[in-house]
Amino acid sequence: MFAKSFTAALVVASISAMAQNTASEMQLAGVKANFQQAQLVPQFLPTFNPSALLNVSFGSDNIEPGTPLAATAVSSAPTLTVIPASNFSSAYPEATTMFTVAMVDADIVGTDESGNQTRHWLANNVALTSGEDGAFGLNYTTDPITNYAGPGPAEGSGAHRYVLLFIDQPSTFTAPAYLSQPNTPLGTFNFQNYLSSTGLGPIVAANYITVENGVATVTVASTSAVQSSTLVAAAAASTSGASSAMSSGASSSMGSASHSGSSSATKAASSAGSAASSAVASASVTAAKSGASALMPAGLAGLVGVGALAVGLVF
Ligand SMILES: *[C@@H]1O[C@H](CO)[C@@H](O)[C@H](O)[C@H]1NC(C)=O
Ligand SMILES: *[C@@H]1O[C@H](CO)[C@@H](O)[C@H](O)[C@H]1NC(C)=O
Ligand SMILES: *[C@@H]1O[C@H](CO)[C@@H](O)[C@H](O)[C@H]1NC(C)=O
Ligand SMILES: *[C@@H]1O[C@H](CO)[C@@H](O)[C@H](O)[C@H]1NC(C)=O
Repeated sequence: MFAKSFTAALVVASISAMAQNTASEMQLAGVKANFQQAQLVPQFLPTFNPSALLNVSFGSDNIEPGTPLAATAVSSAPTLTVIPASNFSSAYPEATTMFTVAMVDADIVGTDESGNQTRHWLANNVALTSGEDGAFGLNYTTDPITNYAGPGPAEGSGAHRYVLLFIDQPSTFTAPAYLSQPNTPLGTFNFQNYLSSTGLGPIVAANYITVENGVATVTVASTSAVQSSTLVAAAAASTSGASSAMSSGASSSMGSASHSGSSSATKAASSAGSAASSAVASASVTAAKSGASALMPAGLAGLVGVGALAVGLVF
């Protein structure tokens, strides 16, 4: 047996830190970078260009992308709200657009997503409702195809990535026979095939959590730090006032802190501050996970949060 190393450093858009209910270019770029670093893009989602943030709440918290949570904390369906970017409403008018909501287990980092994934939640015909300050609530106008079924990863199988998806559902959408009836139990399907065969898409907003059961019997880590300059470049095209605040962080390393922590599924261990510029997290340990929240350059405070995730794998 040999081990490969893999560590993904994640930059997240801090939903909870938002002062307003409009998603900025910077926040969208943060979510995108996070999905790329977690290898959800392009493996699970070939492309992902969000037009909104998906605010996921399992209770009182707003989940940042990649947040590790205990299975017991996510046994009931979350409340989802949609925080639109400035271009959202023209593309997806509130009165006429339907969406599909899904939660899919993309399994651990490194999984071959051409196979099937486990479907934990699938609801078609989801409409928007006006919420506070421009955010949208969701109106599930028909019974879910698959009712929310909380994560239950096998013991020792590592930190599974459960992806929550908010998908444009065009008027031409027709549910495939195998997923047309409410109360279809949790099961496997190929998410990309489901999208392409039904004409669903694009993914308008997404978020994800990780849930792990016990100590991973696997190892490893690789490395790749998200540089804030990546986000700055992405945001440069933005007309939002956030861009001036970003320049001070242009060359900073973000999300490269690597802390080994307990692999038990607990909420993000905090510790920030030991930002190495390139986290070559080694990997000998069992799945080490961490989240950091205080690494941002001063100019970014309040706009972007930083998290790091190291996942162990043995091939
Ligand atoms: C809205 O803007 C974001 C960020 O630039 C982009 O990724 C997305 O594709 C745009 N959405 C639409 C519907 O044009
Ligand atoms: C996110 O959702 C929670 C629960 O619905 C809500 O309390 C919170 O205000 C939302 N956050 C934002 C920024 O809209
Ligand atoms: C939800 O959708 C149903 C069916 O279209 C509609 O009758 C109801 O008024 C909607 N509820 C809200 C809160 O928008
Ligand atoms: C994948 O899911 C599809 C749709 O449910 C099913 O037809 C197919 O048999 C599954 N493939 C495997 C390998 O389980």
